[in-house]
Amino acid sequence: MKESLLAQLKPFGQEHLLAFWDRLDKAGRTELARQIEALDMPLVQRLYERRNNRSDFRALADRASPPPAIRRNGANNPFTPEQARAQGAAALAAGQIGTILVAGGQGTRLGFPHPKGMYPIGPVSKRTLFEILVGKIGAAARRYGVRIPLYLMTSPATDAETRAFFREQRRFGLPEEDLFVFCQGTMPALDEATGKILLETPGRLALSPDGHGGMLAALARSGALDDLESRGIRHLFYFQVDNPLVEVCGPEFLGYHLLAGSEFTPQVIAKQDPLARLGVVVQVDGRLQVIEYSDLHEDAARRRNADGTLTHWAGSPAIHAISAVLLRRLAGSAEGLPFHYARKKVPYVDAAGRQITPGEPNALKFERFIFDLLPAARNALVVEIDPAEGFAPLKNAPGAVEDTEEMVQKMMIAQHRRWLERAGADVAEGAAVEISPLYALDAEGLKRKIAAGLRITEPTYLRE
Ligand code: UTP
Repeated sequence: MKESLLAQLKPFGQEHLLAFWDRLDKAGRTELARQIEALDMPLVQRLYERRNNRSDFRALADRASPPPAIRRNGANNPFTPEQARAQGAAALAAGQIGTILVAGGQGTRLGFPHPKGMYPIGPVSKRTLFEILVGKIGAAARRYGVRIPLYLMTSPATDAETRAFFREQRRFGLPEEDLFVFCQGTMPALDEATGKILLETPGRLALSPDGHGGMLAALARSGALDDLESRGIRHLFYFQVDNPLVEVCGPEFLGYHLLAGSEFTPQVIAKQDPLARLGVVVQVDGRLQVIEYSDLHEDAARRRNADGTLTHWAGSPAIHAISAVLLRRLAGSAEGLPFHYARKKVPYVDAAGRQITPGEPNALKFERFIFDLLPAARNALVVEIDPAEGFAPLKNAPGAVEDTEEMVQKMMIAQHRRWLERAGADVAEGAAVEISPLYALDAEGLKRKIAAGLRITEPTYLRE
């Protein structure tokens, strides 16, 4: 086995991966061989060789203009909210909408020792992100009297535990045939100076999930794309595991996507802080694309229009409507989505077998991003949402300045308080409130549920 692996590695100068082979036991060798055989060596080599040919984001941002948009103020929108809601509701009721939830990330910033979806975020209920998000799918399916399948992406870092959790929790009520779990691929970390693949341990490569854009290849490879097509799903509502505030399958949002004949529609929020850590959706040469916040130079980020508003205003919370036709078309294209490079500190084992923990970035990592589908999408546009009604990501451990548990819970409570007050309830100052999506999906749903004059004075979780 060693000889054939060596023959694979040598042409690419990666034979060091077998340096500790003779020390490994049988199981260790089998596992290492499996990892090496799964590598796409020519791709890894190509990526390293092209490491300095990055896009010129400065020039790009200078040429970019704002994307076509459905704005919240509505003045120039081509469709009314009523038209959009009717169109979205019709597609939902016809069973044409599925959901994709990406949950393959390692969640390093949060530092939670399980898949992030298992984080108990409910401010009163302590329900997990998974339970809240899957509850929203179930509630939407019930409202429209249809099945709404969930295509759930995991990675080798999260797969086994996520599957076990869904089994244990009986898929949070989702019928078995409506859950399709598929696992994304990985990419190796390379020593930046030499291009050599790093070993995490003597018997294991330093691998990490290949980015949420790994979804496209994984959807096709796993059979999920065939599955959704055979079910008659035409559009997917795409969302991420860290945002419990997301309005899953909102009919108005889906309606704009459908009315515009768009193949990829990102939700956006109007950036307040020019330097907010959000990618921005822009238009360049008639095509939409996302520039990551780390690639957007400060002058461009601060640029303002004559009326004082930010030019690059459309921040992306990573919630999209995507047509199945686009997914199929691009899944079949030769190169697939491009890779983005990140310089990271990656611990490794050196040639002498010593465990090294670098103090400075030493490695290149490669990730694909789902928003790179956007330039290929026909009729793409963005839909502005109110962040208070749709975006509160859990990214960081307690104590960080943004996107912590405390901030997410505050936004969840504030949303549910607003819904309750709109439905005629009186919520005492400081009383935490939380509403299960199966109890009410939105303020309208809540109105039908609660008695006028309801007064809430202590922590309350409204559930069925
Ligand atoms: P982030 O980019 O915030 O990464 O993921 P993360 O792994 O959750 O957290 P950090 O950066 O390590 O702290 C945004 C969404 O994309 C998913 C995550 O699970 C999350 O839902 N994701 C990310 C994947 O599914 N696969 C990946 O390879 C990366």
